[in-house]
Formats: sequence, structure tokens, C-alpha cells
Amino acid sequence: MRDLVRVLLIDDDEADRLVVRRGLQQAGLKVETTEAATAAAGVAAFREGTFDCVFLDYRLPDMDGMTTLKSLLDTEDNSAAIIVLTGQGNERLALEMMEVGAVDYLTKDEIGPSVLKRSVRYALARQQFRETRQDLLHRLVVANEELETFCYSVSHDLRAPLRGIDGFCQALQEDCSDQLNALGKQYVKRVRSATDRMTALIDNLLQMSKVNRSELSENTVSLTEIARSVTEELRQAEPDREVSVKIEEGIAVNGDLSLLSAALQNLLDNAWKFTSPRTKAKITFGSTSEGDGQCTYFVTDNGIGFDMTFADRLAVPFHRFENARNFEGTGIGLATVDRIIRRHGGRLWAKSAPNEGATFYFTLGERKKA
Ligand SMILES: Nc1ncnc2c1ncn2[C@@H]1O[C@H](COP(=O)(O)OP(=O)(O)O)[C@@H](O)[C@H]1O
Ligand SMILES: [Mg+2]
Repeated sequence: MRDLVRVLLIDDDEADRLVVRRGLQQAGLKVETTEAATAAAGVAAFREGTFDCVFLDYRLPDMDGMTTLKSLLDTEDNSAAIIVLTGQGNERLALEMMEVGAVDYLTKDEIGPSVLKRSVRYALARQQFRETRQDLLHRLVVANEELETFCYSVSHDLRAPLRGIDGFCQALQEDCSDQLNALGKQYVKRVRSATDRMTALIDNLLQMSKVNRSELSENTVSLTEIARSVTEELRQAEPDREVSVKIEEGIAVNGDLSLLSAALQNLLDNAWKFTSPRTKAKITFGSTSEGDGQCTYFVTDNGIGFDMTFADRLAVPFHRFENARNFEGTGIGLATVDRIIRRHGGRLWAKSAPNEGATFYFTLGERKKA
């Protein structure tokens, strides 16, 4: 704790100020006290000076305690610990002020040297803790943003050389095929399919990092329509597959159209892909409502499923289950879905068993079915 504690005492009652001032001295704390008899004078003194601790009377003639507290908290570059002084029976207000940012409160009839000493020490320590936490949080946010930007620009910048590689391979196939023997042609083909995979990976990474970079727009979004158009596209791409698709009518939510479309696209793509060994594949999109009115949406299928032992790794980027090895994919889809759902204030989870299909559930925070 600092040696000298700079205290600002804002109280219109001279006698109360005296009690606090003398109490602090008797407590053996080295204090330098500035006093103000009105909220306006207190706020002005606070803005001019530097204080470690403020005692703020909750009731002042010119401004109510909460407004005064907010003015103090709004002051730039000031990190003083604010202790509210209340009359008895006003603890509720004092607690509200603590929720807004005061560190402690004392009722006026309990003020004495030992209480003041404890309160000041506690307030300073707690304030220090708050600042450290704030600083750590800030650094975490900055580090995450940097990582996000890094991921985005790396993915973005990898595209150009990749296009070059693919372009020249294509030129090799088209312009130099008479100079390539069968093995050479095979190699070029394999380079091109590897670049295709890498392009898919980069595109998926870009999609994932866009989730947190873009502004979230709020609209009424029909999940039913999205599910319908996604599954129609999937059917057009593979018309020979027999897949029975059931989509619940009228599911509409509040959220971001493009993000929610990407989420459903990923879930339905997976359902479609991982049911491909089934002669009669089944996919359902629907919703259930729990007792608390919270809506849960789900995509269920009768595909290859997965072992729930590692279910907590589902949303980890690049994680794919053993039995998904023979299916195309990058392992970034569910990580993207998870981010999208979390940005909407919801949660994503799954239930499955090997060979018994999979169900993916998600909520969208407090948003209710429209
Ligand atoms: N419907 C599903 N049925 C079975 N396994 C699934 C299903 N959806 C996702 N998975 C498992 O989760 C993994 C991660 O999914 P995802 O991130 O979409 O990756 P990808 O589709 O590129 O493999 C998949 O590789 C697969 O192992
Ligand atoms: Mg996928």
C-alpha cells in the first residue's frame, strides 16, 4: 500500500467531515485530505487533483449520490477507490452504487478509526485488483484482435501464390501435356488437387475469422427458408442420392442473416456428407421449446455419427474424428458454427454415437421464436 493516501472527502456536513478526517488520523494512516462541501466542488476537485480514495456522502444538496458517483467515475485518468457514506437504512442505495463502481460503503454511525482503516486498506487493495484485472482483460482483447487480424491476413495473402501455383499447373496440363509422361501428368494432377484442398482450407479459415470481425446485424431471419435453400442446393449437387429431408415450417429468429446462413449451411453440409454411406439417408431440421421458453434448434441425421468421448473437441478448429477420415473436409466448419452461435449469445452442443447418427443443437441466447 502507498505510504501517503490522498483522500477527497465530499460531504456537506462539517461535523461528519471532521469525524472522518480525525478518524483517519487516529487510525494511524498517513493521509492528505482535501474537503468539499458540495457535489459540484467535489467533482471539480476530483478532476483537478489526483486521489487514491474518495469518501462520498450519498446525499448532497446539489446532486444525488448516484449522479455524483457517475461524474467521478467518468473522469479520465482517475482510478481512485470510492467509498460511499450512507445514513442507516440506505444500504440498498449504497449497494446499487457499488454495482455502478463504488468500492465500499460505510454507514455514518459506524465510522471510527478501525473501521476507516480497514475500509481504506480494503478499498485501495480492491481498486488495485480491479485495475490489474481491467489491464489484463484489455491486453487479452488486444492480443485476440491481433491474432484474429493475423489469421485473416495470412489466409488472405496465401490465396495469391496459391492461385499462381494452380494457374501454372493448369498451363502445364494444357500447354505441355505432350512433353509430360503419364507419371508427370499424374503428379500435376495431384498438385492441383492439393491446391484445391488448400483453397478450401483458406476459404474456411477466412469465413471463420470473418465471424468475429464483422458487425452483427439484427434482422428477422427465417431459418426454415435457409435450411430449405441449402438442402435444395445439396440435392442438386448430388441428385442421385436418396435423402429424406424434413424441415419444420415457420422457424424465424432475430439475428444476422449471413452468419446464421453460414452456420446452418455448415451443419446441413455435415449432415448431408456424413449420411452418404446410407442408402436411405434422413436429415431433419427443427426446434423444441424448453419449459423456460428458450428455443433449441437442431439438425439431426442418421449418418456415421461419432464417439461422444471427444465431443468437447468438436468446435476445435481442424479437429476431425477418426471415422471422418474418408470424407472430404477441413475441420473448420463446426468451429465457425460455434463462433456464430456464441456471437448470437447462444450455445452449440451435440449428441451422437458411432454409426447411430448425430444431432447438433443450438440456442440463440434470449432470442425467442418469432
Ligand atoms: N453430422 C455429423 N455426423 C458425424 N460426424 C460429424 C457430423 N458433423 C460433424 N462431425 C464430426 O465433426 C468433425 C468436424 O466437423 P467440421 O468442422 O464441419 O469439419 P469437416 O466437415 O470439414 O470435417 C467432422 O470431421 C466429423 O468428424
Ligand atoms: Mg463441415
